[in-house]
Amino acid sequence: MKKLWGGAFSETTAELVDRFGQSIETDLNFWQEDIIGSVAHARMLGAQGIITPEEAKLLIDGLEKIHEEGPEFLHLDVEDVHTAIELRLHELLGDVAGKLHTARSRNDQVATDTRLYLHNELLIVFDLIKKLQGLLLEKGELYKSSLMPGYTHQQRAQPITLGFHLMAHFWGLQRNGWRAERLFELANYCPLGSAALAGTSFPIDRKATADELGFIAPIPNALDATSDRSYILDALHLCGLIMIDLSRISQELVLFSGREFGFVKLSDSVTTGSSIMPQKRNPDMAELIRGRTGRTLANWTTLATTMKGLPLGYNRDTQEDKPPLFDSLRKVKDSLKLIYLMLDTADWQIERMATSVRGDFSTATDLADFLATTGVPFRQAHEIVGKLVIGCNTLGCTLEELTPETLAEIAPEVPVEALAVLQPEGSVKRRESLGGPGPVAMDAQLAHARNLWETEGFHHIA
Ligand code: ARG
Repeated sequence: MKKLWGGAFSETTAELVDRFGQSIETDLNFWQEDIIGSVAHARMLGAQGIITPEEAKLLIDGLEKIHEEGPEFLHLDVEDVHTAIELRLHELLGDVAGKLHTARSRNDQVATDTRLYLHNELLIVFDLIKKLQGLLLEKGELYKSSLMPGYTHQQRAQPITLGFHLMAHFWGLQRNGWRAERLFELANYCPLGSAALAGTSFPIDRKATADELGFIAPIPNALDATSDRSYILDALHLCGLIMIDLSRISQELVLFSGREFGFVKLSDSVTTGSSIMPQKRNPDMAELIRGRTGRTLANWTTLATTMKGLPLGYNRDTQEDKPPLFDSLRKVKDSLKLIYLMLDTADWQIERMATSVRGDFSTATDLADFLATTGVPFRQAHEIVGKLVIGCNTLGCTLEELTPETLAEIAPEVPVEALAVLQPEGSVKRRESLGGPGPVAMDAQLAHARNLWETEGFHHIA
């Protein structure tokens, strides 16, 4: 195997050592970032007179040619992508290719590549989050008055609307977008020019390379720059949080699409059949998102365990930062797209949801609230309604089926006007407190969300 080192070695390494150390396959994820980083480095070397302007031009043209050719022209029987690109450059240019590595090391190079890669991936994640939020806004508006049961403890609690429910997920995405933006900034500092650990004696210009690559500034300490992987842990944490939220949406789709609920039909394009039961339509994508969330959480633990107690200075252990990062980002991107697809094509069973709100005693709180407005202390009102619920059960009727006569029979202390608050439509309409599902409050929420959504980036709630 061709190497970038070996001058001081008289024997070749064992084959297993080569194989065990290889990272080329995962590195290919950022072959472009590696070239872009090298172009900036070569330009800076030329501008500083460390190599001649002609040499700099040769190196840059060669690197651009490799970029055009694509990764198919790289030798893959090498240790890593840095080696593969330098080798190809040597094939194209001859010995001048060897000047590219002046005043840098793979240690600052790999850290730069990873930061550039994360930067580009976060831009994609921002777009995917915005796109899903746009869909939730659209559906939130469409279904803002479609009744559905609201749950706590997974038991019927109070009537809400489907639009209100869907919009709850909008805000989770907004928080994760906000977190992603903070990470975008935090990780946007440049390690290039830190060399192996202690900088270089060449008169390099780290500010120039940082600027060209779109970083805010060079990282001030070369040892820190080559040792830090905390931004990758942040990225893995972010990916885990996004997946946790998507797994919760997934779980709802699994539940709601089951016959017991019957709230939604998922489209054929996102469901799968069973090889034995012809009637089945399985929500596999939702299940896989739920299932793969575990791996993204493990990815954080994997790297945190690697980093714990790791001394400063480059350690080969940190080669293990990239597989979890690539894996988590891929899962997040795919899952955001799949949730979009499932929700975009979902056929919500509005009638079924609205009728299922009837007869489930979920307006009991409305009755207690009503009694409280007549001067009965809420605790006492709660108890009276409890008695009423038992009474209904004994009579075999629901709250909305109570008549003035049955009401007087069970709870004579409740005025007959109370019957007016037992319909679920009215229950939602009255819940106009900020953040509630009532029509005015809901319109305000939708306007607030749309305003944030249309503003560039992910601003905090206020
Ligand atoms: N594949 C290595 C990594 O990802 C590249 C840096 C190698 N540096 C070294 N001194 N061996 O960390």
